[in-house]
Amino acid sequence: MNFTFIASIAGLGGLLFGYDTGVISGAILYIKQVFHLSPTMEGTVVAIALAGAVAGAAVAGTLADAFGRRIVLLVTSAIFVAGALLSSIAWMLDIVLIGRILVGIAIGVSSMLTPLYLSEMAPREKRGGIVTINQFYITFGILLSYIVGFLLSHIGEGWRWMLGLGAVPGIVLFIGMLLLPESPRWLIGHDRDEQAKRALQRLRPGADIDVEYTALLHDIAAEDNQKAPWRQVFTGRARMPLIIGVGLAIFQQITGINTVIYFAPTIFQSAGLPSASISILATAGVGLVNVVMTVVAMRLLDRVGRRPMLLWGLVGMFVTLLILSICFMVGLSGALAWVTVIAVAAYVAFFAIGLGPVFWLLIAEIYPLAVRGRGMSLATIANWSFNMIVSFTFLDLVVSLGRGPTFLIYAAMTLLTFAFTWFLVPETKGRSLEQIEQGLNAPLAAE
Ligand code: BGC
Repeated sequence: MNFTFIASIAGLGGLLFGYDTGVISGAILYIKQVFHLSPTMEGTVVAIALAGAVAGAAVAGTLADAFGRRIVLLVTSAIFVAGALLSSIAWMLDIVLIGRILVGIAIGVSSMLTPLYLSEMAPREKRGGIVTINQFYITFGILLSYIVGFLLSHIGEGWRWMLGLGAVPGIVLFIGMLLLPESPRWLIGHDRDEQAKRALQRLRPGADIDVEYTALLHDIAAEDNQKAPWRQVFTGRARMPLIIGVGLAIFQQITGINTVIYFAPTIFQSAGLPSASISILATAGVGLVNVVMTVVAMRLLDRVGRRPMLLWGLVGMFVTLLILSICFMVGLSGALAWVTVIAVAAYVAFFAIGLGPVFWLLIAEIYPLAVRGRGMSLATIANWSFNMIVSFTFLDLVVSLGRGPTFLIYAAMTLLTFAFTWFLVPETKGRSLEQIEQGLNAPLAAE
């Protein structure tokens, strides 16, 4: 099996993440009618998967450190399939809710485990691009959910298909994980050197792995006790990575991306686009921009580096949010309403070359192996929690402050994120995971 193929299977968790978070915005319109939901229950059906994701992220690290990345991903894909099928055949609301919780838990686990697994199997000079396969799949999954939602919107019981279709990539992931090897790093960390060698051989077919294998053995042997206690996640070598990881997790959400991903049609309609279907079409266009720019990021991250892309992306997000906010304050109409669509698309494009992929990439790179799973878990919990907070408060903020000031708040947050990145976030391009860990023990300054 060639490495790109292996990585494409391993990254499928990202597709489920994107599809399952995106699809509910279309499906809820019908679920609400079928089960006669009150607004509170409607909110619960949407939010319950995000809450499940927080729970999934909370346990994923400990499980992945203890049992290995592959087994946990295998079980997760089975949960994805079960959750998707259950919610699609639901005959009462409780079953929809149980199905969505299961899907949510699986999203939470795979959102951290997919980049972790990819980062540990990738050769260092390609790691940025390989780990970003995860973000590519997330954006592709979101786009797919928009398209499926649109195509099935006129079909009776279409919502069942919208939810149930998530089972397909889940099954592919399950079969794929039966075939893929465990992370060589995890195996060495658990004293299974022979298995690690075989795994590495499978990941580098036809290549001479001796140099890489010996370096891995040496680097990992030099690390701390592999069964590090929880205390170690918050102290010593792990403290700075934890601050960076959790900080970027929060910033990735409070700069407002999911107000656009989840509510774009509403935003476009209020900006003056003529009809709901044109707004949905514009949303699909924005989804496509997200995918295309993520591909651009995959190609550039290992050449240009993480820091410049993150910093330039943030500058772009700031400017476009400012424009968006002004558009709403001025109140555009007619053809000028399209300026809003362009500003939203440009904002998403800048997110897609910076904060989107770089957050998931960095949290897979900066933690010491001994606490990597748990460190990533904490960052991922923070990410999902703030995702939930921002999605919940967005509509209220719009009502109480207005759209213009709301987007101005997100613009201000991008400035904070810029300062945080400038002072704390290191460059990790071209360095092995073990070298990054050593670098982070040195003074805080970034390169
Ligand atoms: C974020 C998601 C977001 C997606 C959009 C991901 O990196 O974690 O919250 O919906 O990017 O592309």
